[in-house]
Amino acid sequence: MTKADAKSLAKFPGPLLLLGAGKMGFAMLEGWLARGFAPGKLIVLEPQPAKAVTALTRRGLKLNPKAKAAAAAAIVIAVKPQTAPQALPALHGFVGKGTLVISIMAGRTLRFLENALPAGTSIVRAMPNTPAAIGRGITVAVGNGKVSARQRRQAGDLLAAIGAVEWTDDEGIMDAVTALSGSGPAYVFLLAEAMTKAGITAGLPAELAAKLARETVAGSGELLRRSALDAATLRQNVTSPGGTTAAALEILMGPGGFDELLTKAIAAATRRGRELAG
Ligand SMILES: NC(=O)c1ccc[n+]([C@@H]2O[C@H](COP(=O)([O-])OP(=O)(O)OC[C@H]3O[C@@H](n4cnc5c(N)ncnc54)[C@H](OP(=O)(O)O)[C@@H]3O)[C@@H](O)[C@H]2O)c1
Repeated sequence: MTKADAKSLAKFPGPLLLLGAGKMGFAMLEGWLARGFAPGKLIVLEPQPAKAVTALTRRGLKLNPKAKAAAAAAIVIAVKPQTAPQALPALHGFVGKGTLVISIMAGRTLRFLENALPAGTSIVRAMPNTPAAIGRGITVAVGNGKVSARQRRQAGDLLAAIGAVEWTDDEGIMDAVTALSGSGPAYVFLLAEAMTKAGITAGLPAELAAKLARETVAGSGELLRRSALDAATLRQNVTSPGGTTAAALEILMGPGGFDELLTKAIAAATRRGRELAG
Protein backbone atom coordinates (compact mmCIF):
# COMPACT_ATOMS: atom_id res chain seq x y z
CA MET A 1 0.00 0.00 0.00
CA THR A 2 1.47 3.39 -0.88
CA LYS A 3 0.71 6.72 0.72
CA ALA A 4 -1.52 7.69 -2.19
CA ASP A 5 -3.58 4.51 -1.70
CA ALA A 6 -3.92 5.13 2.03
CA LYS A 7 -7.53 5.28 3.15
CA SER A 8 -9.30 8.21 4.73
CA LEU A 9 -9.21 7.84 8.49
CA ALA A 10 -12.29 10.03 9.04
CA LYS A 11 -14.32 7.00 10.14
CA PHE A 12 -11.57 5.36 12.18
CA PRO A 13 -12.90 4.57 15.65
CA GLY A 14 -11.60 6.59 18.59
CA PRO A 15 -10.04 7.34 20.86
CA LEU A 16 -6.61 6.81 19.31
CA LEU A 17 -3.78 7.25 21.81
CA LEU A 18 -0.22 8.11 20.86
CA LEU A 19 2.46 7.41 23.47
CA GLY A 20 5.48 9.55 22.58
CA ALA A 21 5.16 12.37 20.03
CA GLY A 22 8.82 12.59 18.99
CA LYS A 23 10.09 12.35 15.40
CA MET A 24 8.29 9.14 14.45
CA GLY A 25 5.19 9.65 16.60
CA PHE A 26 4.69 13.17 15.30
CA ALA A 27 5.15 12.02 11.69
CA MET A 28 2.37 9.48 12.28
CA LEU A 29 0.17 12.08 13.94
CA GLU A 30 0.59 14.39 10.94
CA GLY A 31 -0.21 11.52 8.59
CA TRP A 32 -3.40 10.66 10.47
CA LEU A 33 -4.58 14.26 10.51
CA ALA A 34 -3.80 14.62 6.80
CA ARG A 35 -6.08 11.61 6.21
CA GLY A 36 -8.98 13.21 8.03
CA PHE A 37 -8.58 11.74 11.50
CA ALA A 38 -10.52 14.03 13.86
CA PRO A 39 -8.18 15.70 16.40
CA GLY A 40 -10.98 15.41 19.00
CA LYS A 41 -10.55 11.61 18.94
CA LEU A 42 -6.79 11.83 19.62
CA ILE A 43 -5.00 11.51 22.95
CA VAL A 44 -1.26 12.18 23.20
CA LEU A 45 0.90 11.25 26.19
CA GLU A 46 4.18 13.15 25.89
CA PRO A 47 6.15 14.81 28.73
CA GLN A 48 7.73 17.49 26.52
CA PRO A 49 5.29 18.16 23.69
CA ALA A 50 6.47 20.21 20.72
CA LYS A 51 4.59 23.48 20.07
CA ALA A 52 2.85 21.89 17.08
CA VAL A 53 1.39 19.18 19.35
CA THR A 54 0.27 21.66 22.02
CA ALA A 55 -1.35 23.78 19.29
CA LEU A 56 -3.53 20.82 18.32
CA THR A 57 -5.26 20.97 21.71
CA ARG A 58 -7.15 23.98 20.28
CA ARG A 59 -8.65 21.59 17.74
CA GLY A 60 -9.69 19.13 20.46
CA LEU A 61 -6.63 16.89 20.86
CA LYS A 62 -6.26 15.74 24.47
CA LEU A 63 -2.70 16.17 25.70
CA ASN A 64 -1.61 14.32 28.86
CA PRO A 65 -5.20 14.15 30.22
CA LYS A 66 -5.46 13.96 34.00
CA ALA A 67 -8.91 12.38 34.18
CA LYS A 68 -9.13 8.65 33.52
CA ALA A 69 -10.44 8.22 29.99
CA ALA A 70 -12.37 5.36 28.40
CA ALA A 71 -10.42 2.51 26.81
CA ALA A 72 -8.80 3.52 23.52
CA ALA A 73 -9.75 1.86 20.22
CA ALA A 74 -6.08 1.88 19.30
CA ILE A 75 -2.78 2.86 20.89
CA VAL A 76 0.48 3.59 19.09
CA ILE A 77 3.67 3.30 21.16
CA ALA A 78 6.39 5.55 19.74
CA VAL A 79 8.71 6.09 22.70
CA LYS A 80 12.35 4.98 22.61
CA PRO A 81 12.77 1.27 23.41
CA GLN A 82 14.80 2.06 26.55
CA THR A 83 11.96 4.30 27.83
CA ALA A 84 9.39 1.51 27.52
CA PRO A 85 9.59 0.14 31.10
CA GLN A 86 8.82 3.61 32.58
CA ALA A 87 6.36 4.69 29.88
CA LEU A 88 4.15 1.63 29.37
CA PRO A 89 2.46 1.56 32.81
CA ALA A 90 0.73 4.87 31.85
CA LEU A 91 -1.21 2.90 29.22
CA HIS A 92 -3.01 0.55 31.58
CA GLY A 93 -6.11 2.71 32.07
CA PHE A 94 -6.46 2.99 28.29
CA VAL A 95 -6.17 -0.68 27.33
CA GLY A 96 -9.58 -2.34 27.20
CA LYS A 97 -10.81 -5.65 25.77
CA GLY A 98 -10.93 -4.54 22.13
CA THR A 99 -7.94 -2.18 22.19
CA LEU A 100 -5.39 -2.61 19.41
CA VAL A 101 -1.82 -1.75 20.47
CA ILE A 102 0.79 -0.96 17.81
CA SER A 103 4.43 -0.60 18.84
CA ILE A 104 7.06 0.91 16.55
CA MET A 105 9.85 0.48 19.11
CA ALA A 106 12.97 -1.06 17.62
CA GLY A 107 13.91 -4.40 19.16
CA ARG A 108 10.98 -4.66 21.59
CA THR A 109 9.44 -8.06 20.89
CA LEU A 110 5.80 -9.15 20.95
CA ARG A 111 6.65 -11.20 24.03
CA PHE A 112 8.07 -8.13 25.82
CA LEU A 113 4.91 -6.18 24.93
CA GLU A 114 2.61 -9.04 26.00
CA ASN A 115 4.36 -9.14 29.38
CA ALA A 116 4.09 -5.37 29.79
CA LEU A 117 0.41 -5.07 28.79
CA PRO A 118 -2.77 -6.67 30.18
CA ALA A 119 -3.17 -10.36 29.28
CA GLY A 120 -4.94 -11.00 25.98
CA THR A 121 -4.11 -7.59 24.39
CA SER A 122 -4.03 -7.45 20.58
CA ILE A 123 -0.54 -6.27 19.66
CA VAL A 124 1.16 -5.36 16.39
CA ARG A 125 4.93 -4.86 16.30
CA ALA A 126 6.01 -2.62 13.44
CA MET A 127 9.32 -1.34 12.10
CA PRO A 128 9.09 1.87 10.05
CA ASN A 129 11.96 4.06 8.77
CA THR A 130 12.70 7.79 8.74
CA PRO A 131 11.33 8.69 5.28
CA ALA A 132 8.10 8.37 7.30
CA ALA A 133 8.62 12.08 8.01
CA ILE A 134 7.60 12.82 4.40
CA GLY A 135 5.05 9.99 4.17
CA ARG A 136 7.50 7.83 2.18
CA GLY A 137 8.60 5.31 4.77
CA ILE A 138 8.26 1.56 4.55
CA THR A 139 6.99 -0.42 7.53
CA VAL A 140 7.04 -4.15 8.17
CA ALA A 141 4.42 -5.33 10.67
CA VAL A 142 3.71 -8.55 12.57
CA GLY A 143 0.78 -9.21 14.90
CA ASN A 144 0.36 -11.50 17.91
CA GLY A 145 -2.26 -14.25 18.00
CA LYS A 146 -4.90 -11.88 19.41
CA VAL A 147 -5.04 -9.51 16.42
CA SER A 148 -8.31 -9.94 14.49
CA ALA A 149 -8.58 -9.45 10.72
CA ARG A 150 -10.35 -6.15 11.36
CA GLN A 151 -7.62 -4.95 13.73
CA ARG A 152 -4.99 -5.93 11.19
CA ARG A 153 -6.74 -3.76 8.60
CA GLN A 154 -6.94 -0.93 11.12
CA ALA A 155 -3.24 -1.22 11.96
CA GLY A 156 -2.46 -1.20 8.23
CA ASP A 157 -4.55 1.97 7.78
CA LEU A 158 -2.76 3.78 10.63
CA LEU A 159 0.70 2.70 9.45
CA ALA A 160 -0.08 3.60 5.83
CA ALA A 161 -0.21 7.24 6.93
CA ILE A 162 3.63 7.22 6.89
CA GLY A 163 4.21 5.12 3.77
CA ALA A 164 4.06 1.59 2.42
CA VAL A 165 3.21 -1.36 4.69
CA GLU A 166 4.27 -5.01 4.41
CA TRP A 167 3.03 -7.78 6.72
CA THR A 168 4.86 -10.85 7.89
CA ASP A 169 3.83 -13.75 10.12
CA ASP A 170 7.43 -14.41 11.11
CA GLU A 171 8.64 -12.12 13.88
CA GLY A 172 12.07 -13.76 13.52
CA ILE A 173 12.79 -11.62 10.43
CA MET A 174 12.32 -8.32 12.28
CA ASP A 175 16.02 -7.92 13.15
CA ALA A 176 16.94 -8.32 9.48
CA VAL A 177 14.14 -5.91 8.51
CA THR A 178 15.53 -3.39 10.99
CA ALA A 179 19.01 -3.89 9.53
CA LEU A 180 17.81 -3.40 5.95
CA SER A 181 15.04 -0.81 5.89
CA GLY A 182 15.05 0.54 9.47
CA SER A 183 18.74 1.48 9.37
CA GLY A 184 18.82 1.63 5.54
CA PRO A 185 18.31 5.39 5.17
CA ALA A 186 21.68 5.85 6.95
CA TYR A 187 23.40 3.72 4.30
CA VAL A 188 21.88 5.83 1.52
CA PHE A 189 22.90 9.09 3.23
CA LEU A 190 26.40 7.66 3.65
CA LEU A 191 26.43 6.95 -0.09
CA ALA A 192 25.64 10.62 -0.75
CA GLU A 193 28.39 11.68 1.69
CA ALA A 194 30.95 9.35 0.10
CA MET A 195 30.01 10.48 -3.43
CA THR A 196 30.45 14.10 -2.33
CA LYS A 197 33.91 13.42 -0.89
CA ALA A 198 34.94 11.41 -3.94
CA GLY A 199 33.71 14.21 -6.24
CA ILE A 200 35.80 16.76 -4.33
CA THR A 201 38.83 14.46 -4.61
CA ALA A 202 38.18 14.22 -8.35
CA GLY A 203 38.42 18.03 -8.58
CA LEU A 204 34.85 19.36 -8.12
CA PRO A 205 34.04 22.39 -5.93
CA ALA A 206 32.57 21.14 -2.61
CA GLU A 207 29.16 22.77 -3.02
CA LEU A 208 28.70 21.42 -6.54
CA ALA A 209 29.84 17.94 -5.48
CA ALA A 210 27.30 17.91 -2.62
CA LYS A 211 24.50 19.06 -4.93
CA LEU A 212 25.36 16.51 -7.62
CA ALA A 213 25.49 13.71 -5.02
CA ARG A 214 22.19 14.72 -3.37
CA GLU A 215 20.26 15.06 -6.62
CA THR A 216 21.76 11.87 -8.06
CA VAL A 217 20.80 9.81 -5.01
CA ALA A 218 17.33 11.40 -4.79
CA GLY A 219 16.61 11.26 -8.54
CA SER A 220 17.85 7.68 -8.89
CA GLY A 221 15.74 6.67 -5.89
CA GLU A 222 12.65 8.22 -7.44
CA LEU A 223 13.42 6.61 -10.82
CA LEU A 224 13.79 3.22 -9.13
CA ARG A 225 10.49 3.73 -7.33
CA ARG A 226 8.53 4.75 -10.43
CA SER A 227 10.14 2.39 -12.93
CA ALA A 228 8.78 -1.03 -13.78
CA LEU A 229 12.41 -2.17 -14.18
CA ASP A 230 14.40 -3.65 -11.32
CA ALA A 231 17.55 -2.06 -9.88
CA ALA A 232 19.93 -4.35 -11.79
CA THR A 233 18.32 -3.46 -15.15
CA LEU A 234 18.35 0.26 -14.38
CA ARG A 235 22.05 -0.07 -13.51
CA GLN A 236 22.79 -1.95 -16.74
CA ASN A 237 20.92 0.75 -18.69
CA VAL A 238 23.49 3.40 -17.65
CA THR A 239 26.46 1.13 -18.25
CA SER A 240 27.87 0.93 -21.78
CA PRO A 241 30.61 -1.66 -22.28
CA GLY A 242 34.06 -0.12 -21.89
CA GLY A 243 32.59 3.22 -20.79
CA THR A 244 33.04 5.42 -17.73
CA THR A 245 30.31 3.77 -15.61
CA ALA A 246 31.76 0.34 -16.40
CA ALA A 247 35.16 1.53 -15.14
CA ALA A 248 33.61 2.57 -11.82
CA LEU A 249 31.48 -0.55 -11.48
CA GLU A 250 34.50 -2.77 -11.99
CA ILE A 251 35.76 -1.38 -8.66
CA LEU A 252 32.38 -1.23 -6.88
CA MET A 253 31.34 -4.74 -7.93
CA GLY A 254 34.80 -6.27 -7.57
CA PRO A 255 36.27 -8.09 -4.56
CA GLY A 256 35.58 -6.24 -1.29
CA GLY A 257 33.08 -4.05 -3.19
CA PHE A 258 29.52 -2.94 -2.49
CA ASP A 259 27.88 -6.36 -2.31
CA GLU A 260 30.41 -7.73 0.13
CA LEU A 261 30.42 -4.61 2.30
CA LEU A 262 26.63 -4.34 2.49
CA THR A 263 26.24 -8.04 3.22
CA LYS A 264 28.68 -7.64 6.12
CA ALA A 265 27.09 -4.39 7.31
CA ILE A 266 23.54 -5.76 7.30
CA ALA A 267 24.69 -8.95 9.03
CA ALA A 268 26.35 -6.82 11.74
CA ALA A 269 23.19 -4.74 12.20
CA THR A 270 21.05 -7.90 12.36
CA ARG A 271 23.34 -9.37 15.03
CA ARG A 272 23.22 -6.13 17.02
CA GLY A 273 19.42 -6.12 16.84
CA ARG A 274 19.35 -9.64 18.29
CA GLU A 275 21.76 -8.65 21.09
CA LEU A 276 19.68 -5.57 21.98
CA ALA A 277 16.45 -7.60 22.05
CA GLY A 278 18.18 -9.87 24.60
N1 LIG B 1 14.06 7.15 14.07
C1 LIG B 1 14.13 6.01 13.37
O1 LIG B 1 14.85 5.84 12.38
C2 LIG B 1 13.25 4.87 13.75
C3 LIG B 1 13.01 3.84 12.83
C4 LIG B 1 12.18 2.79 13.20
C5 LIG B 1 11.63 2.77 14.48
N2 LIG B 1 11.90 3.77 15.34
C6 LIG B 1 11.33 3.69 16.67
O2 LIG B 1 10.45 4.75 16.87
C7 LIG B 1 10.44 5.08 18.24
C8 LIG B 1 10.53 6.57 18.38
O3 LIG B 1 11.74 7.02 17.78
P1 LIG B 1 11.97 8.56 17.50
O4 LIG B 1 13.14 8.66 16.60
O5 LIG B 1 10.67 9.20 17.13
O6 LIG B 1 12.40 9.02 18.99
P2 LIG B 1 12.14 10.41 19.72
O7 LIG B 1 12.12 11.52 18.73
O8 LIG B 1 13.09 10.48 20.87
O9 LIG B 1 10.65 10.24 20.27
C9 LIG B 1 10.30 9.61 21.46
C10 LIG B 1 9.36 10.55 22.21
O10 LIG B 1 8.82 9.89 23.36
C11 LIG B 1 8.83 10.83 24.42
N3 LIG B 1 8.76 10.21 25.75
C12 LIG B 1 9.77 9.92 26.61
N4 LIG B 1 9.29 9.37 27.74
C13 LIG B 1 7.96 9.29 27.59
C14 LIG B 1 6.89 8.83 28.43
N5 LIG B 1 7.13 8.30 29.64
N6 LIG B 1 5.64 8.91 27.97
C15 LIG B 1 5.38 9.43 26.76
N7 LIG B 1 6.34 9.90 25.92
C16 LIG B 1 7.62 9.83 26.34
C17 LIG B 1 10.12 11.58 24.21
O11 LIG B 1 10.10 12.77 24.97
P3 LIG B 1 11.51 13.39 25.46
O12 LIG B 1 12.15 13.95 24.26
O13 LIG B 1 11.11 14.39 26.47
O14 LIG B 1 12.29 12.26 26.06
C18 LIG B 1 10.09 11.81 22.71
O15 LIG B 1 9.33 12.95 22.35
C19 LIG B 1 11.63 4.36 18.89
O16 LIG B 1 11.17 3.29 19.68
C20 LIG B 1 12.41 3.83 17.73
O17 LIG B 1 12.99 2.57 18.02
C21 LIG B 1 12.68 4.84 15.00
